[in-house]
Amino acid sequence: MIRKKLIAGNWKMNKTSAEAKALVEDIVSEVGNVKDVDIVVAPPFTSVETVGQAVDGSNVKLGAQNMHPEPSGAYTGEVSAEMLRSLFTRYVILGHSERRAYFGETDAFINQKVLAALKAELKPILCVGETLEEREAGDTLKVVQTQLEGGLAGTSEGQATEIVIAYEPVWAIGTGKVATVEQAQEVHAFIRELLGNLLSPAAAGKIRILYGGSMKPANAPDLLAQADIDGGLIGGASLEARSFVQLVEAAQTAN
Ligand code: 13P
Repeated sequence: MIRKKLIAGNWKMNKTSAEAKALVEDIVSEVGNVKDVDIVVAPPFTSVETVGQAVDGSNVKLGAQNMHPEPSGAYTGEVSAEMLRSLFTRYVILGHSERRAYFGETDAFINQKVLAALKAELKPILCVGETLEEREAGDTLKVVQTQLEGGLAGTSEGQATEIVIAYEPVWAIGTGKVATVEQAQEVHAFIRELLGNLLSPAAAGKIRILYGGSMKPANAPDLLAQADIDGGLIGGASLEARSFVQLVEAAQTAN
C-alpha cells in the first residue's frame, strides 16, 4: 500500500459548537483507533477548538475549511494558518468550488494559500473540478489542469507528501449525482500524470487524490477500488456519524 486511504469530512456551514462536539465524539468512539486509514474532520471555524479537543489522543485528525494566506493583519473575518496551527489543525481545505464560485477565489489567490499552508506545516487539501457546462463543452481536463497548475505553482517536490488533491466535479456536489467510476478514474489518472510532470513521477506516486461529490456508503466501495482514487472528501454523508463511519470502513476494505 503506497498511499494510505484518506477519508475527510467537510462539514461546510453546518453544526453549532455543541452539535459538532456531539458528532465528533460519536466518530471518535467508533473509529478513533483506526490506523490503516487516515481520517480528517473539518468543522466550521467556530468549533475547530472544541473538535480539536475531542480528537486529541485519537487517530482522527483536525482539518479546517479555509484560511487566509497572510499570517496576521487587517483582514476582517479571516483566520491564518498560524491560528489554525495553534489549535493543532493538521489539514486545510483550499480552493473548494464553493469558495471559487461564491467568494471569487482565483487560482492565484488559492496558490498563495497553498504556499502559506505548507510553510506553516498544514497539509493543504487542494480542490479542483469542472462545472457541468465545462464538462459538456469537453473542457474537463483543461479546467482541471489550469486549476492544478495554478494552485500548485511554486511548490517543491519535497512538499509532495504534504499535499492532498481533491477532485470534486461541481455538478456532483450535493446533487446526488455521483461521477461514474470511469469518469472519476479518468480525471484522477490525468491529475496523477500532471503531478508527475509538475513535481516528479515519484512525488506523484505519493500524493493522495480524493474524490468528492455525493460520495456515500453505497457508492464508495466502487470509487475507492479505482487505482488512482485514494479516498474521499465528503460533504453531506460526513454530517452523521453512521454514514461517515461506514465510509471509513469502506476505505479499510479497499486498502
Ligand atoms: P457532498 O458530499 O455533499 O456532495 O459534498 C462534497 C463536497 O463538496 C466535499 O467538499
